[in-house]
Amino acid sequence: MKKLYIIANWKSNKTESEAKSWFQGLKIEDLGLTNKEIIICSSFTALPILKSLIINHKSSIKLGAQDISVFDEGAYTGEVSAKQIKEFADYVIIGHSERRKNFMESDKMLFEKVELAIQYGLTPIFCVQGTGTQIPSNSTIIAYEPIYAIGTGHPDTPENAENVASFFKKNYNVQHVLYGGSVTSKNVKEFTQMPNIDGVLVGGASLDAQEFYAIIQNA
Ligand code: PGA
Repeated sequence: MKKLYIIANWKSNKTESEAKSWFQGLKIEDLGLTNKEIIICSSFTALPILKSLIINHKSSIKLGAQDISVFDEGAYTGEVSAKQIKEFADYVIIGHSERRKNFMESDKMLFEKVELAIQYGLTPIFCVQGTGTQIPSNSTIIAYEPIYAIGTGHPDTPENAENVASFFKKNYNVQHVLYGGSVTSKNVKEFTQMPNIDGVLVGGASLDAQEFYAIIQNA
């Protein structure tokens, strides 16, 4: 059975107390998660509380950040470095289309972020918008997220997502390809049952603990 990555991307949502209530409402211990890696990508501000909840509950959930600084530690006011994030998280989303669009992140900058992530022991989840997106040569996990499917309620077809996933596996040294864009508990299985799709990156539907539980269960 292939391993599935089920990733919550909370974007700029949830205070510390909201993150705590969400975690306490998730209760995934009974799901038997041997072949599922559950990763919560919260804002930096919620990572410390989530880390302590995971330790206290002996939970297998992993943490991820949604971005890292393009700079190493040093005089970069306002930035959070890969080294700092590694204290809390094992993964980091890099190159989400919202960052490319709203923060003008270039391929060069994103490739540098991937280098820093790897240097500090973080696994990058590199986002691509289609087969035309450049990916760094050392990408192991990529997430295919077509822009028109993000937050719209109109996901890509599982067949097209499968074609994109198999393209990246055939042409690059990519081990895992995830799909993201309007994934819900109702459609998740259509994607995860495709042979080359190894999981999902979930935005809006991950904000509700019950819905995210159902996504994990149905995947
Ligand atoms: P969505 O977002 O699930 O709300 O479409 C996915 C993402 O942007 O990662």
